[in-house]
Amino acid sequence: MFLEGNHVVGPIADEVKRRFQGEGTGHDWHHIERVTKMALNLVRAEGGDEEVTVLGALLHDIADHKFHDGDLTEGPRVAAALLRRAAADGKTIERVVTIVNEVTFKGAGVPTPVSSIEAACVQDADRLDAIGAIGIARAFAYGGAKQRLLHDPESTPNPHASFESYASSTGATTHHFYEKLLLLKDRMNTKAAKEMAIERHAFMEAFLAQFYAEWHGSR
Ligand code: ADP
Ligand code: NI
Repeated sequence: MFLEGNHVVGPIADEVKRRFQGEGTGHDWHHIERVTKMALNLVRAEGGDEEVTVLGALLHDIADHKFHDGDLTEGPRVAAALLRRAAADGKTIERVVTIVNEVTFKGAGVPTPVSSIEAACVQDADRLDAIGAIGIARAFAYGGAKQRLLHDPESTPNPHASFESYASSTGATTHHFYEKLLLLKDRMNTKAAKEMAIERHAFMEAFLAQFYAEWHGSR
């Protein structure tokens, strides 16, 4: 599947696939697969460790805070346990766990710096999958799973200044575009991701313009 013959990647990919099968909030196995493929392409262009990047991408959503009451420690903990079980060496485990710690978006006003080229590639790949046509589809799938309104003209987006405020938000899905998705283009790390983000960003802007026109019955 990824890095054929790698003795840690194979079992980790199988385990992640098993756990994410049928997930219905846009965080299914296909999201993980797209992110892993994209992260591998990015790291090949940037020059970095392919094994660490692939493992970080495979494990980046393994126990995401969105499904663990805002707990940011569960993902790194589960990732480390699975890597130990797959007999990864200590240094690899440390580098992969750092990626899992660093990828997540934590609110418009909260910086999310990365400390390695591998983390930069996984963060970019995850963020590319959150924008464009697929990003729009995932946002509404997530909103539906969390009983959110499509749009709420009576409230305004919130530029969350803290992770706690972002994680506990219950706003309409259109607000999420202003609170996260439209900000991602300017937060990409790698050159290739910055370029790809431009078209995906423009597509979201066109989508929103059409959405509001239809909402107001003007088109
Ligand atoms: P991150 O770890 O950066 O949050 P994920 O890969 O876990 O990234 O994906 C987050 C996905 O969940 C995004 O595609 C996003 O559209 C969706 N999402 C998160 N919060 C909301 C929300 N409040 N409303 C709609 N979609 C959301
Ligand atoms: Ni993700």
